[in-house]
Order: sequence, then C-alpha cells, then structure tokens
Amino acid sequence: MPAHALRCRNCGRTYTLAPQYVCEECLGPLETERPRPAVDAEALRARIGAGPASLWRYEDLLPVAHDPVADLGAGLTPLVHASTLGGNLGLRRLFLKNDGCNPTWSFKDRVVTLGVAAARQFGFQVLACASTGNLANSVAAHAARAGIQACVFVPEGLEAGKQVLSAVYGATIVEVDGTYDDVNRLCAQVADEYPWGFVNVNLRPYYSEGAKTLGYEVAEQLGWRLPDHVVIPLASGNLLLKIERAFAELVELGIVPPARVRVHGAQPSGCAPIVAAYREGSESVRPVRPQTIAHSLAIGNPADGRYALEAIRRSGGVAVEVTDAEAVAAVREVAAREGVFTETAGGVAVAALRRLAAGGIFGPDDVIVVYLTGIGLKTQESVAGTLREPVKIRATLGAFEAEVLPGLAQVRPRAGQAVGGA
Ligand SMILES: Cc1ncc(COP(=O)(O)O)c(C=O)c1O
Ligand SMILES: [Zn+2]
Repeated sequence: MPAHALRCRNCGRTYTLAPQYVCEECLGPLETERPRPAVDAEALRARIGAGPASLWRYEDLLPVAHDPVADLGAGLTPLVHASTLGGNLGLRRLFLKNDGCNPTWSFKDRVVTLGVAAARQFGFQVLACASTGNLANSVAAHAARAGIQACVFVPEGLEAGKQVLSAVYGATIVEVDGTYDDVNRLCAQVADEYPWGFVNVNLRPYYSEGAKTLGYEVAEQLGWRLPDHVVIPLASGNLLLKIERAFAELVELGIVPPARVRVHGAQPSGCAPIVAAYREGSESVRPVRPQTIAHSLAIGNPADGRYALEAIRRSGGVAVEVTDAEAVAAVREVAAREGVFTETAGGVAVAALRRLAAGGIFGPDDVIVVYLTGIGLKTQESVAGTLREPVKIRATLGAFEAEVLPGLAQVRPRAGQAVGGA
C-alpha cells in the first residue's frame, strides 16, 4: 500500500497499517496517512487526466492500490449544469453531481471500492458492513465481483429496492430488530470477535478515504477549480468531512487555485442531530432516535458528526434541516426540471439548497454543487401516490384523440391534416 501509516485524528499517535480503527491511547478514530505524490502539480493534473475513467484516476491521492479483481468501475459520474432548476432559484451556475450513476447506484461504491481492496490486501474472506441500505448493496456487489462472501447488517424497514439489490448479489442479509445505531453497535462486537472485514468498522480508515474522490472529481470537472458552495446530505458525516478535506488537499498540492468553499450540510428534520448541534453552538452531537422516510440518512448517533460539524463551521457553511415533505417535493422537482431521479437523500440536499437560497446565502454567479448521492429508483416508495396516473385507453386513434389529446398542451396534427383526418 502506498500509505505510510495510520494516525489518530485526536492525539496524532501513529500505527503501522492494519485493520484497526480506534486509537489505543485515546479511543479517537484512526485515519490513513499518505506521502505526498512525488510529482509537481502540473504533472499530477496530467497523470490524472490520462488515467482511467473511474475513481482510480486519483490513485496517487488514495491510500490503497488499484485492485482490478474487486473493481466495478465506480466514479467519474456526471456533473450536470442545472439551468432550469437554477434559473428558478436565481442561480446561474448551479450543478448537480449525479452520483446515482455508479455501479450499484449510490456514492457508497466509492468508499466500498477502497474498502474491498483493503479487505483483500489484509486477506479477509468475509466482507461485511453496518448499513442504512446503500452500503449493503455496494458491499454485496463488490464481494460478488471479488469472489468473497458478503454479510450485511441492516435495520428493519428498509425500502424494497435496497433489500432486493443486496439479495440479488448473493449477500447474507442480517436484518436487525432496531435502528442503524443498534446495528452499528452489534457490528463493532462482531468485528471484535471474528476475523471479518467490516468496511465501515475495522476497515474504516481505508474505506472512508473513497469519499474524497467526490471532491477531487468535482474540482476536475469544473476545470481544476473549486466551487464556491457545496450542499451535502449527512448521515455519519464522513462524506461531508472528506469532501471538505479533499478540497483543502487540492489547494495544498497546488492543483487548484486557493479558494474558500462553503460546505453546507443537510439532514431530514426527523434525524438532524448535527443540525441541532450547529444551531445550539454546541461542539458535541447529541444522539437522537431517527424518524424519517430518508432511511439512508437515518443515523441518530453519527460517528463523524463532531468532525463534520467542525468542517461546516470551519468553511463558513450552514447546517440545514428539511421536512420529509420538502425532500419528496425536491425529488419530484429535480426529476421534472432536470431529468435526474435522485433518492430521498438527494431530495434532502436539494430542499436544503432551496432554504439556503431563500436565506440569501448565494450570489447569482456563485458556482454551487449539490451532491445527489443515490438513485430514486431505490426509494420509489417516497413518491408513490404523488405522481400522475397513466391515461388508460383502448388501442384506437379515436380513443387517443378523445381521451389523451385534450389533456396535452400545444399538440397539432401533421401539416395539412385535421385531427381525426386520414
Ligand atoms: C444516498 C446517501 N447519501 C448520503 C449518505 C450520507 O453519508 P455519510 O454517512 O458518509 O454522511 C448516505 C449514507 O448512507 C447515503 O446512503
Ligand atoms: Zn489517539
């Protein structure tokens, strides 16, 4: 592995590389420490540009070496200029990072790509995770690809699409009677007893770095410059923390000009412990019991909550909560205005964007990126019952003209023909 060591985020103590995630000294989280790439900024940009069309183009910046056996090609998803949605909000340079376009249709493929590569290097025969749904899907698929067993732990009550996906890839699914936080506690116990590779427990230092590629990639897609604002959905807080770090790293490496990126975090009001701490001016995050349709964000006791909160404050960002109804309306709006069907977590981010815009946070020419972290097909339940029903007709032109045409705007028959003509 190119990384030198593990280092404690709290006290700085270093450790040799191992499947270990907690500091023995202070119980702080361990992170990978990597040597600086041996080339200058221009050469590094050129190497990245010539790299594969996946997150492995950033291999020089990652703590694990490319492992083709376990790779499903995550990364390099579209950054879409949202002119209609943006125009509606008075924002000329609004972009959507559509990370639903990943192998298992969420950003979790980025973190799992690194987690599974590390698991194979450490020789684990079972790949496991504590998940709110998307992570389980990704672990199941990557384990299938790598030819190892998957055992995924989830809370009860997940969306049907997420349950089907983990099952179709052949994983053993353990549905725990409890919340994600109960699942997580159980997984820490299992990881202590059994030699399994839990991507977000004992392999977390490697896995978590994969989220940085969502920062690197946006900077590259903007022509090697940083956005002025980003809006990111929060569950454990890792995604936001690592995107903020990735932007800072690119500046340190001289790959992008120095700029301030205001990093905004979004949570559903039924599970908003980080937003509550932000509002109260507190440095610690008080756990809550989740109650939201945004199941992927339903983490009441976020592992990186304190650090995500620090990152939001450090950057001059805001933490925003939105109701489930606002999130569903946002899912529908992005689909209808931009042709992107995002999951409820993306709806939470777009609803937060709306609130921030209404609060006057953005300038009209600011470059704003909203992270849409998963696909809407997995959370269809959230929009069911809110959509237009199909117009059901007999298979005749007469029925079409009588029952469909009156409901359509501005439709004319071909030139020279009257409606109903031969
Ligand atoms: C679709 C989606 N978006 C965002 C998140 C939040 O990521 P994190 O737990 O790193 O804060 C998750 C976590 O499960 C997710 O599934
Ligand atoms: Zn420590």
